[in-house]
Amino acid sequence: HVFKLEDYRPSDYLILQTSLVFRLSPEATCVIATLTIERREGVAASAPLVLDGDGLTLLGIAIDGRDLQPGDYAATPDELAVLKPPAASRFELVLETEIAPARNEALMGLYRSSNVYCTQCEAEGFRRITYFLDRPDILSIYTVRIEAPHNEAPLLLSNGNPVDSGALADGWHYAVWHDPFPKPSYLFALVAGALGKVADSFTTLSGRKVELGIYVEPGKERLAGYAMDALKRSMKWDEEAFGREYDLDVFNIVAVSDFNMGAMENKGLNIFNDKYVLANEETATDADFANIEAIIAHEYFHNWTGNRITCRDWFQLCLKEGLTVYRDHEFSADQRSRAVKRIAEVRTLRAHQFPEDQGPLAHPVRPRRYREINNFYTATVYEKGSEVVHMIRTILGAEAFRSGMDLYFERHDGEAATIEDFLKVFEDASGRDLSQFALWYHQAGTPNLTVSSSHNARAKEFTLEIEQSVPPTPSESRKRLMHIPLGFGLVGAGGKPVSYGDVEGATVEDGVIHIRKRRHVVRFTGVAERPAVSLNRGFSAPVTLSVEQKTDDQFFLAGHDSDSFSRWQAFNTLLTDALIAAFRQVLGGKPPAFAQRLTELAGRIAADETLEPAYRALALSLPGEADIARDIGKGIDPDAIFAAREALALAIARANWENFTGLYERLADKGPFSPDAASAGRRALRNILLDYLALLPEGAALATTHFRSASNMTDRAAALTVLAHRHAGSAEAQQALAGFEAKYRNDALVMDKWFQIRAGVPGSKTVETVRALTGHPAFSMANPNRVRSLIGTFSSANQTGFHRADGEGYRFFTETVLEVEKRNPQVAARLATALRSWRSLEPGRQAKAREALLAIAGTEKLSADLRDIVERTLA
Ligand code: ARG
Ligand code: ZN
Repeated sequence: HVFKLEDYRPSDYLILQTSLVFRLSPEATCVIATLTIERREGVAASAPLVLDGDGLTLLGIAIDGRDLQPGDYAATPDELAVLKPPAASRFELVLETEIAPARNEALMGLYRSSNVYCTQCEAEGFRRITYFLDRPDILSIYTVRIEAPHNEAPLLLSNGNPVDSGALADGWHYAVWHDPFPKPSYLFALVAGALGKVADSFTTLSGRKVELGIYVEPGKERLAGYAMDALKRSMKWDEEAFGREYDLDVFNIVAVSDFNMGAMENKGLNIFNDKYVLANEETATDADFANIEAIIAHEYFHNWTGNRITCRDWFQLCLKEGLTVYRDHEFSADQRSRAVKRIAEVRTLRAHQFPEDQGPLAHPVRPRRYREINNFYTATVYEKGSEVVHMIRTILGAEAFRSGMDLYFERHDGEAATIEDFLKVFEDASGRDLSQFALWYHQAGTPNLTVSSSHNARAKEFTLEIEQSVPPTPSESRKRLMHIPLGFGLVGAGGKPVSYGDVEGATVEDGVIHIRKRRHVVRFTGVAERPAVSLNRGFSAPVTLSVEQKTDDQFFLAGHDSDSFSRWQAFNTLLTDALIAAFRQVLGGKPPAFAQRLTELAGRIAADETLEPAYRALALSLPGEADIARDIGKGIDPDAIFAAREALALAIARANWENFTGLYERLADKGPFSPDAASAGRRALRNILLDYLALLPEGAALATTHFRSASNMTDRAAALTVLAHRHAGSAEAQQALAGFEAKYRNDALVMDKWFQIRAGVPGSKTVETVRALTGHPAFSMANPNRVRSLIGTFSSANQTGFHRADGEGYRFFTETVLEVEKRNPQVAARLATALRSWRSLEPGRQAKAREALLAIAGTEKLSADLRDIVERTLA
């Protein structure tokens, strides 16, 4: 079935109140739902009430106290129809269903993870618990009573505030929770089990004292301190930056070890993948700490953008996700370094969203069609969705943007809203017309800007010719012209901004050119000397650029651009161009050669004390193999890309041995560990220097020393990666891998790093290693984190291993995707996106990748999730 945006219509019935009773048992949990139903005004009393279900068994059904007779209703596992609803417009429907949480391996609905009952209802998991109008525009007030044996589940949690609890017969007990805020079913949550608690509190701006709790596996409480600190900082920040206060007496977070995604924003009861809660220096890397901070903030921020204001339907997913990602980006930028954060965001967008937008799975930020909504929790909805909000802010300016947000909260609080509602508040707050801009939500594909410049010294005129195009994407062959806010700067000698007089050919405000037509010829008057032009400053728009630019200008901007993002971009473009040229040399059988001034510039950036270490680390980390492949676009031979990239790394290392070793020594951590951004930045720079140095014979021993002397996981994992990836097969690498495994074999999250490192070893042998590791005692096909670490890393982050020329990587992929699918269709579908760029491969690999996809597509009884991905990928 294909769901279509234009088919939306309000439901005939509403569910005003939802009262749930759970009698928990692993194999047979009894769920009694009492629903206060109201027929919408104007709807005929004969209209049947049709509720969603998914694999349910109905044990009882009554309306207003009377059991229904067969013939009054029709129940299948996936649907319940009340054929003759009462004549009264309001009535009470009582349903009893039975479910088996212990057998729920799809991890949607109510399931058990390490003996803890937990739920995941977004997007359509609630219908696996009871029959319901399981759609986000049905807002209901929930009261939840949970009963369980006290010894198995001393802790009983749900949404809202606790209102009652007590003992029952036979060692059972109960707790009742009430959530005063009407919410859609996807925000329902329940947790029951034996968990350790970290408690704290937060007093809001208006004086409400909120009890905070983070629940983890008993014994792991000491690993939740960083998450708690991040939560309190998030609560404070949302008050300051957006004027948003928390609204319940309690806020709870539970960490579970089997979870399909990162985390979930259930009202007052966020449930997290434990990977994004648990951390200390011994087990977590700096990247883990940064992720925890961002995801804790993200889920907390959803309380306003997602929960208080939710989505009318799932086509509007970006309304809450794009906006909330934007908010968590802003939070991290304020907590850490804005410049560094922006570069990291753009790298992520390019690595994940650009290939999606440029391949068979491309879809608009607000899709118009879906077969399986789970497959639309994508980089496009999340990351590009955030960039669209970022552009709104750029166009409106900070003040009008904030007024628009205030208006959004005021106007739509308590509602299920749409993207149109969202755009309207900004139009109303600013008086601007955003109708052309709205295409960013409706049209898929990454726009491209072709830019050339000229300078007329006599007329003192500088001209930019800018042309936009949007490439065709699946089912959208003709595109409309977009409104693209293009940040820019004219840069003169020493990096100084060049002033100019009148501008014609486009609206230019606050350093932004507003591109609205196919072609603009933008003339800047009063420009005596030819400036270098810095484009898409701050990454003002998620576009690609084709710029005719002198190499000298690129080098100049890489050294002098005052916009730190663009300065990073200039150097990154130089590296990318060099790598693409090297790729062609490798294919032509020639050894790649690199300009000395490029390798020297790398050295100067590394040593430039005016730049933050984290920034220098980002500058020195070469474009990834997949990034290079994306920029080349077709005829991809991953082995040749690998060779080109290795050659550049080696050239940089050779040209900078002394400089890098000196820096490496000086950056050594002194004093106790701190996860703060500045310390993390120093470690990042030092570890990337290690990566370069270890390429040279004289640096080979450094990695072993670094590994042995590491006093935190960031350094240990970095050194182990260098050993395993650069010196695979060496005795040192084998020893380090074995030592790490022996030390952490009982720590699943740390073993994930080990699986990742091993799955990432470049070259043709890794497919065999990975296949063998599926039998490792710490591995499990049922656990999403394990699957993503081992199989996901191999298939989406190991270009030479996965794309082995004989197709063995793809065969392994087909087998494992199908095996994972038997339990967990959602995780399998996500894995399967690893082949989305198959058409850009060289013909031999392309044919083998297609065979692998066809093998999956030809499998009988495929889940809707996997079938959707594979069929779109092949289309
Ligand atoms: N709303 C969650 C978040 O981004 C993600 C939930 C994803 N669930 C799913 N079934 N795909 O914070
Ligand atoms: Zn989210």
